[in-house]
Amino acid sequence: MLKINDLQVAYGSEHLVVDRFHLSMEPSEIISIVGESGSGKTTVIRAVLGALPACGRILGGNITFHGEDISTYGKDTWREVRGKKIAMIFQDSGGTLNPIRKIGSQFTEYIVEHSEADHKEAWKQASGMLERMRLPDPESIMKSYPFQLSGGMRQRVGIAMAMTFQPELLLADEPTSALDVTTQAQIVRQMMELRSHYGTGIIIVTHNLGVAAYMADRLIVMKAGEVVDAGSREEVLSHPSHPYTRELLSAVPVMGGKRIV
Ligand SMILES: Nc1ncnc2c1ncn2[C@@H]1O[C@H](COP(=O)(O)OP(=O)(O)OP(=O)(O)O)[C@@H](O)[C@H]1O
Ligand SMILES: [Mg+2]
Repeated sequence: MLKINDLQVAYGSEHLVVDRFHLSMEPSEIISIVGESGSGKTTVIRAVLGALPACGRILGGNITFHGEDISTYGKDTWREVRGKKIAMIFQDSGGTLNPIRKIGSQFTEYIVEHSEADHKEAWKQASGMLERMRLPDPESIMKSYPFQLSGGMRQRVGIAMAMTFQPELLLADEPTSALDVTTQAQIVRQMMELRSHYGTGIIIVTHNLGVAAYMADRLIVMKAGEVVDAGSREEVLSHPSHPYTRELLSAVPVMGGKRIV
């Protein structure tokens, strides 16, 4: 479904912040990208969504989605793809939600813009999506401002919006990092349910090796813009090939002789 070959990205200068990144993803797979701050994880995700900042440029390699090079996508194709086939959720849904507008108004507007639905249908659909994310009392959430919701609820709203059109690929950049451990676990479980219900493939970027190990079929470890380890969850966790992966693993607490990842 998604293939990334030898991707190289730079911002402004020629200095590569992502170098020879590669990935091959099947439908319904969950792949987790882990790595230290500044290693290029967000840059990879943004490149896939065709949403690098203006100074960001792809200097080498390519990204194909169902065999089509996404660099050949024009504005119209992106309008069909973004949100519909590839959707994104952010760390705190800050990238999705406008803080000064009520959830219902922005969610329905999002649906109306991306589909043939009128306002009334869009409202119903939005409220239904909130319900599906098991948010209590969707109608009252629709009438709330983002700041009136807890972080976990806001994040569920963000995921509900991203899932509206049942995308094949969900890109999640640190979706649980701003949440407490319990809420984090709920969101992680809900994302996995999305995969079982809709067959959504997910790329999740996380600092948390525990989250990565729990969710992912495959792990990619990045350091300084490069892939240093990649493979199935079992391969990477049991036989980490790079010292940095071993370092990450050793930072995960051990209880009763078992590492809790
Ligand atoms: N808009 C930008 N302009 C210039 N440089 C940038 C920009 N965004 C990121 N960078 C640089 O690119 C490198 C990779 O950044 P990126 O945000 O992809 O890392 P990351 O792995 O997502 O880090 P974090 O875990 O902190 O989110 C960093 O060195 C960063 O300083
Ligand atoms: Mg990042």
